[in-house]
Amino acid sequence: MNFAGIQTYSPKMERIPNIVIFASGSGSNAENIINWSKDRDTYRVKGVFCNRKDAYVLTRAERLGVPAWTFSRKEFKDNTIIYNGEAASLTAVLADLDTDCIVLAGFLLKVPDYLLEAYPERILNIHPALLPSYGGKGMYGDHVHKAVIAAGEKESGITIHLADSQYDHGRILYQARCSVSPEDTPETLFEKVHLLERAYPEVIEKYVNSF
Ligand code: GAR
Repeated sequence: MNFAGIQTYSPKMERIPNIVIFASGSGSNAENIINWSKDRDTYRVKGVFCNRKDAYVLTRAERLGVPAWTFSRKEFKDNTIIYNGEAASLTAVLADLDTDCIVLAGFLLKVPDYLLEAYPERILNIHPALLPSYGGKGMYGDHVHKAVIAAGEKESGITIHLADSQYDHGRILYQARCSVSPEDTPETLFEKVHLLERAYPEVIEKYVNSF
């Protein structure tokens, strides 16, 4: 695995690292990340946070037995959340869950500064293209694959990186590539990229056990 900066799996923490997942949509990556942790116990998923009450990731979380909470865009920006029926700050909730690392999995809001400061180099993101190309505001899902095809690219792939104050930006931890042919449509390219996204749990596992 081409994993820049972290060569070996060497647990240093006294306990199994805890992660939380932030997601906005279907949650297929969230499901892979949760299932991986159940099979191996090399990290624990303490919760799912979502900015859309109708997102399918909430159904998946319930089915998988992982607690989930929602917040609005404004609540997220203002560091507030309703947690177990009471208003709280999101950072206090994350601390209450003993969160070591935040994993963005199809999460479409920009990460606010207060969260970047609370979790420096501890927020991971996955993007369905080879950053630094085809990232930024509005570049998600099919928009990415359409742009890659329209530009006549021969390759696309995935990027897993540390989040910073810009969309789809920050130190790259891992990339994987797939070919793009003239016959590809956004749907077929999505399928190829989606297969590559299965690497996310392993990259998370290595990263959180390198602290
Ligand atoms: C994934 O393809 C992920 O790479 C992408 O959203 C999808 C979420 O799917 N993320 C971005 O585009 C971030 N800019 P999922 O909800 O089924 O995991």
